[in-house]
Amino acid sequence: MKKMTIPELLKMKQHGQRITVLTAYDFPFARLVDGGGVDVILVGDSAGVVFAGHETTLPVTMDEMLYHVRAVTRAEPKALVVADMPFMSYQTSVEEACRNCGRMIKDGGAAAVKVEGGSNISHVISAVSSIDIPVMAHIGLTPQSVHRMGGYKVQGRNDQAERIMADALAVEHAGAFAVVLEGIPAVLAADISSRLTIPTIGIGAGPSCDGQVLVIHDILGLCEKYSPKFVKRYADLAPLISSAVAHYVADVRSGVFPAEEHSFS
Ligand code: KIV
Repeated sequence: MKKMTIPELLKMKQHGQRITVLTAYDFPFARLVDGGGVDVILVGDSAGVVFAGHETTLPVTMDEMLYHVRAVTRAEPKALVVADMPFMSYQTSVEEACRNCGRMIKDGGAAAVKVEGGSNISHVISAVSSIDIPVMAHIGLTPQSVHRMGGYKVQGRNDQAERIMADALAVEHAGAFAVVLEGIPAVLAADISSRLTIPTIGIGAGPSCDGQVLVIHDILGLCEKYSPKFVKRYADLAPLISSAVAHYVADVRSGVFPAEEHSFS
């Protein structure tokens, strides 16, 4: 398989080929996810929740994201690696946004960055894109806006739909190469996907987006706490892992492990 590029992703939209995106936060998962054939690996700030155990993505720092991005790019995936920009790394000024996005490319080895926000952040998308750092936008339910939204609630219902459509048009106009549509009604996502020339990547946004993204821990059943309605579980690894660990503990306690074949003469 050839290395995925941004022009290739745009062609996929033009040819009606669906784009596959999954998150990864470390080297072994980057290899596994890439081996499974995804087009894009998103090093999401969801790492703060599923990897680091925070309640929200808000505490995640630039240094933490850089650590995850480096671990993923070290796996040299064929998939395009997109680095998610953490809260407060791009909102305060265009200069800071450019510098921090640049670090993800220069120090992290990512090919692109992702920022949350629509019309309110289009000046940042435009500045970052203008220095040749490709930007994936993220609109609708934006987890970094959890306090404004009053929780993780579906956005864009009824009279909010126009605002989400305006956000989609604004990020495309600002130069984003793709846009994540999260937690919006399927009909609105379909409408946006048909109006934009850049690919839409849905998560909880129905089947008409140009691609889909999910969090790897969710599809593998590694997060036992909570599973959103839009997740499809493709494996149930948590009980398998717990049972393997319990087996190991029992073997050590009973003296079954290590056996002769695990020992040196
Ligand atoms: O942080 C993340 O993983 C994301 C995706 C779920 C879109 O933003």
